[in-house]
Amino acid sequence: MVLRPLIKALLPRSALGAAVSARDAVQILSTPRAAFDARNLRPAADVDMKAIFGDRSAAEAWQTDQAAVASVFGAREWVGGVNPGDRRAIYHLIYALNPRSVLEVGTHVGASTFHIARALRAAAPDGTLTTVDISDVNDPQSGAWVSVGLNRAPRDMLAALDCARHVTFVVRPSLEFMTATNEKYDFIFLDGDHSARAVYLETAAALRLLRPGGLILLHDFYPEGRPLYAGSGVIVGPDRALKRVRRECPDIAVMPVGALPWLTKDGSNVTSLALVAKASSPA
Ligand SMILES: C[S@@+](CC[C@H](N)C(=O)[O-])C[C@H]1O[C@@H](n2cnc3c(N)ncnc32)[C@H](O)[C@@H]1O
Repeated sequence: MVLRPLIKALLPRSALGAAVSARDAVQILSTPRAAFDARNLRPAADVDMKAIFGDRSAAEAWQTDQAAVASVFGAREWVGGVNPGDRRAIYHLIYALNPRSVLEVGTHVGASTFHIARALRAAAPDGTLTTVDISDVNDPQSGAWVSVGLNRAPRDMLAALDCARHVTFVVRPSLEFMTATNEKYDFIFLDGDHSARAVYLETAAALRLLRPGGLILLHDFYPEGRPLYAGSGVIVGPDRALKRVRRECPDIAVMPVGALPWLTKDGSNVTSLALVAKASSPA
């Protein structure tokens, strides 16, 4: 274990990335086949990205809600949290799709959580969000909010944002929670462990938890494992996972959101968000 930081410091970044990618590939190859049931997914043909991200009413609500979130959380990017452009995209998705119940895997500092919660507050006042993290994100010592330099825990941020009633925090590994819960969800956001193995298994679990017409949203989806941003590398796991999912269940489609009408990161307007929907039947 003492050797690990030393190896990390000595190896060039590219070699480290290649080693992580190779381990990820071996892990998913050795993962037993899961069952995928696309029945409850919304058909891809029923998802109109242009309408979702161009929605005027969502854009107006965003002005108010973004200002509210910025007043307690700031408008900048926080280490490990989704970037400001992706927050806006997630806000539009929730506002437009109007889910009654949302599951988020990967709370961290709450960047996505706050925007889902405010979109629910604006568009679906009875809507609920369950956010799951393997670590206690609200802990006053170990919570990520402390190490990144935020002045309050996600739970306190939500109270300040008048959203506490919408959100339940769960401290548990995602797959354990997803296997044990009896709840069903209209929208599931996967932003936890980005290894191919985890995303492959979480996708199968998410499909079992979806209500009819539901959608899954992935973060850090780099189509074909290619870079999306000039200043940062690639996370290969989600693309690799969904390739295997689609080989085993061709009824599933992945819809990368692609370019947004606003900036995301590194001066780009591209996002790594991707929706998982039901593939159109062949003509
Ligand atoms: C990239 S961060 C999520 C960022 C968050 N959505 C935001 O915008 O602030 C990933 C989070 O997933 C959590 N995580 C990693 N593996 C997990 C697992 N197996 N189950 C649940 N959470 C996990 C990590 O603890 C970390 O907080």
